[in-house]
Amino acid sequence: MTTSESTQQPRGQEHERVYLHPVPVRIWHWVNALGFLLLILTGFQIRYVDLFSLMSFETAVHLHNWVGFAVIANWFLWFFYYISSDKITNYHADLNASNFFKRYFDQAQYYSFGIFMGEKRPHNVNPHDKFNPMQKLTYQFVMFITAPITFFTGLMMWDVARFQGLINMVGGIRVVNTIHVLMFILFVFFIFLHAYMGMLGLKPSSHYKEMFTGWEEPHE
Ligand code: HEM
Repeated sequence: MTTSESTQQPRGQEHERVYLHPVPVRIWHWVNALGFLLLILTGFQIRYVDLFSLMSFETAVHLHNWVGFAVIANWFLWFFYYISSDKITNYHADLNASNFFKRYFDQAQYYSFGIFMGEKRPHNVNPHDKFNPMQKLTYQFVMFITAPITFFTGLMMWDVARFQGLINMVGGIRVVNTIHVLMFILFVFFIFLHAYMGMLGLKPSSHYKEMFTGWEEPHE
């Protein structure tokens, strides 16, 4: 498959269409999104058992465990796809920190101001560098730090006896539980913000369509 093709735009302008999200990334993403929503729902039920009863405590625990394992396995699909593909450049750290933070600031300015004034987006997307600096930092943090911490702390609580040594090293089960809940709070914030930022394309549906078809939608 080619990674770009020319299409005719309604206004008659030539627009280079770019193939941004390969199949494994799209499968991983939507399974992951559904998984996280279920984990948050069942997590709420487990934590606030007296507050609402969407399902029994036992069902919530079973579902939380199974979906948790599916989401961990799915993370490896994302990881192995990227490390075996030349698209890993999308997640590479930017070695020129001052240039990166200048571009980060430009992007923040665009999201808070420029976008409403019809300015051109500061980051030019291509299959090997598809994330703007704000997306890049956020996704690196979510995929390499918060998700693995959530998985490890979840696994430790799933089988306390098996992971007793590790739990003691971290400071006990209460510490593990607190870290897991903090990650859960972070993910709730992340999903709201992420779903909103996903609407900041030319049309609110643009980035969503891209994440389903793989192909970049027309932009300014
Ligand atoms: C209701 C839930 C979700 C919605 C509606 C949603 C929506 C989107 C959209 C529209 C994109 C493409 C635009 C972009 O790259 O920013 C995207 C990409 C992405 N999302 Fe989500 N998302 C959801 C849940 C999640 C969750 C739970 C995570 C991680 C734990 C996540 C991580 C990512 C990552 C890492 C990308 C970039 C993927 C890549 O190209 O490598 N998303 N999401």
